[in-house]
Amino acid sequence: MKILFATSEVHPLVKTGGLGDVSASLPAALHRLGHDVKLVLPAYRRVLDRVGSVKIVARIGLPGIPEPGRIMATQMPGSGVPLWLVDAPSLYDRAGGPYTDPAGHDWPDNALRFASFARAVVELATDRANQDWKADVVHCNDWQTGLVSALLSRESSHPATVFTIHNMAYQGVFPPETFDALHLPKDLWSPEGLEFYGDLSFIKGGIAYADRITTVSPTYAKEIQQPEFGYGLEGLLSHRAEHLTGILNGVDYQTWDPAHDPLIPHHYTPEALEGKSANKRALQQRLGLPERPEVPLLGVIGRLVDQKGIDLIVDALPELLKREVQVIVLGTGDKKLETLLQAAADRHGEQLGVHIGYDETLAHWVEAGTDIFLMPSRFEPCGLNQIYSLRYGTLPVVRGTGGLADTVIDANQENLQQKSATGFVFQQATTDALVSALGRALQLFRDRTSWEQMMRTAMAEDLSWERSAARYIALYEAAATKNPNQAS
Ligand code: ADP
Ligand code: GLC
Repeated sequence: MKILFATSEVHPLVKTGGLGDVSASLPAALHRLGHDVKLVLPAYRRVLDRVGSVKIVARIGLPGIPEPGRIMATQMPGSGVPLWLVDAPSLYDRAGGPYTDPAGHDWPDNALRFASFARAVVELATDRANQDWKADVVHCNDWQTGLVSALLSRESSHPATVFTIHNMAYQGVFPPETFDALHLPKDLWSPEGLEFYGDLSFIKGGIAYADRITTVSPTYAKEIQQPEFGYGLEGLLSHRAEHLTGILNGVDYQTWDPAHDPLIPHHYTPEALEGKSANKRALQQRLGLPERPEVPLLGVIGRLVDQKGIDLIVDALPELLKREVQVIVLGTGDKKLETLLQAAADRHGEQLGVHIGYDETLAHWVEAGTDIFLMPSRFEPCGLNQIYSLRYGTLPVVRGTGGLADTVIDANQENLQQKSATGFVFQQATTDALVSALGRALQLFRDRTSWEQMMRTAMAEDLSWERSAARYIALYEAAATKNPNQAS
């Protein structure tokens, strides 16, 4: 199958969160399974700095920008998946992140940046860019690629489209005048199309026009059909329920496995866990915490935003730090949360280590060196860190929502007896519920036999990409055969 995978971030070239991981490992898995998959990404400055040599293979017209767009061809480092970069310096050649300026504010021209990217994807998918390659399926991800399905639906012959929602909270909504400024086909402007309560919604382009919609866990697929998680699009999502599926993300165990992770100081396996204690010691040293092997060490990694329930952790700290525990937080995001966490670390340096920033190596150290991983998310489409934690024998304490509910098995009596428990799940998004779940974890931590049993069960879980990739293939095939307009 010829699959064009369109994304706005891919690890290790550019990543702000899990989308970057998924965009690296799903196409790599499809490639391993023998499919003809190509990635397409904007040529941000930082990508051009990191990628090897590139070849300019096409020039395309992009309305609203001064220069012609260029398509560059290269390969993903590591997996070797062919990669097309959409180069338009006035849009992508800047310092800062893929979506925000160096100060963290959204780029004011994001609508034009990602509409132009979508147009380039359409040119490539239909082979108007003359690459002698026509996609059977275009797989788009999140609002940044939402216009692709909408634009393709206006073509007389076009590939099937799949749109994956990684997060409903980010929708790409712009004022209505943006629609005209982008010179989009007039008939896309309707409540059934791109219009969203009078504004222009990029994510609706994917949800309304893609042949198939997916999201990244079965539970989140159900949740987004409810007002609490659908943010006004629950009606449209329910209407399309027949074509909406939840496929759990996988994990790239080449990158995330304590048996051979090149970023951690000591390797370990379920049969030989000593390396984990050595990693704990190294982590305590690195964060300036007393080296105490017997004290449970709790880890948090993530974007410091409302979604992740970081405020619940901040509120729980006074209660938590009364106990014999140490806590490590690695993250960046909301300035208020950053300040609160830093202030708490200044007061409780013996127990709390906070690293504000984005640090790939430290993320691996935290997974490997902590005993318990905290992820009390308010919502979580899939979540990857709790899955990494399972493999590292770092038992997760999570809220039972989205992908967290689908990947962590609670240590209740029955599951403990059956030796199936892998973590601690709580339901209410409250500090009390979090503290109480942690209390259960800390109690069980003292029972070494049960704890190590749970660690082994967690480490043996297999959430590798191959299984999920096979489900995507089945979906691509269904979409392609049911799509009467399909090219080739
Ligand atoms: P989300 O995509 O909502 O941010 P996920 O759990 O799916 O959440 O993925 C987060 C990814 O980003 C993981 O690979 C995690 O290790 C990484 N990550 C998040 N924050 C940081 C950070 N401050 N430093 C290093 N890695 C981070
Ligand atoms: C989003 C979600 C996260 C998910 C990731 C990759 O950023 O917040 O839950 O794991 O996308 O699909």
